[in-house]
Amino acid sequence: MKILLTGGAGFIGSHTAVELVNNGYSPIILDDFRNSNALIIKNIEKIIGKKVGFYSVDIGNKIKLREIIKKENPIGIIHFAADKSVNESVLNPLKYYKNNISNLVSLLELVSEFNINSFVFSSSCTVYGNPIKIPVKETNETQPAFSPYGYTKKVGERILTDFYATREKSSLTLLRYFNPIGAHPSGLIGELPIGVPSNLLPFITQTAIGKRKKLTIYGNDYETPDGTCIRDYIHVVDLANAHVLSLKFSLEKKNYIKTYNVGMGKGSSVLEVINSFENVNKVAINYDFGARRIGDIPKIFADIDLIKDEMNWFPKFNLENSVEHAWNWEKKLMDFKYIS
Ligand code: UD1
Repeated sequence: MKILLTGGAGFIGSHTAVELVNNGYSPIILDDFRNSNALIIKNIEKIIGKKVGFYSVDIGNKIKLREIIKKENPIGIIHFAADKSVNESVLNPLKYYKNNISNLVSLLELVSEFNINSFVFSSSCTVYGNPIKIPVKETNETQPAFSPYGYTKKVGERILTDFYATREKSSLTLLRYFNPIGAHPSGLIGELPIGVPSNLLPFITQTAIGKRKKLTIYGNDYETPDGTCIRDYIHVVDLANAHVLSLKFSLEKKNYIKTYNVGMGKGSSVLEVINSFENVNKVAINYDFGARRIGDIPKIFADIDLIKDEMNWFPKFNLENSVEHAWNWEKKLMDFKYIS
């Protein structure tokens, strides 16, 4: 059972590839390493103990993509390939519209040509904007997007929904990720931020190891118990398993379009994450408080009843596991001599 994973060498894609193999599927990874490295493919193979299907390709290359789909004949697609930096999207919106939107449309033309009936899409809690009601349910109204990145997720959901509404015997699953963190417990795969990380966990681990001098907490005057922002941090392996279940369901049942939140269903503040990292790993983080970051919302976390009820998905890892695994990965990166 071959499954195409666009962006499959990325943070969430690589963990999903491993979990797919653990569940009897054969992932075919497509990636051009713009946000990853060949090391990840090598290490996926170490974890699974065999070769993994892999093509080095930009998913904007429709001709090559067609050849691959024709040759491999996948029964499903998990579409991770997208750019994901909020800041960069403000500075270079066309990059985001090209990669996250045009390339999605051209992929769907191939889905139509080759009749691939199961599709899982990486969406984001960013579609909820600054929510009025917390925890957010899938039925909450989405808000206008703050950044071009956020807009591409909203439009991506819409394009896919419109497209799959026209198709019979097909199923579409939109997974709205909250904040993915952690790494594989083996320490062999994890997040590989290119340049200075903008996300919290990689910044913490890079500060802990000495790659960064200091972590700045963006704002401690929010209306939250400790004044720092609250997010829903989910272990990447749990998130990967949500993809496997989505795929399993979509292969069993057809004719549906579903949206699920994937988070812990619980909020943690920036300070709680830092404290947890320090306590679990016995490493001190050099941090200070700075100004709020433009576009940050004070508080969000997920209602995860739907995915629990309908897919029997439950997070197995907690925040402590996540910070331990993320630290383990950062230390291993030294052994791999990886320099970003
Ligand atoms: C952001 C995006 C989200 C996207 C995700 C990708 C928005 C508003 N958010 O989430 O859509 O899916 O990245 O992973 O579009 N923080 C610091 N110091 C730092 C870095 C972060 O204090 O150096 C704080 C932030 O202010 C925030 C929390 O840590 O409160 C998490 O930040 P981050 O990891 O960047 O994720 P989000 O902004 O929640």
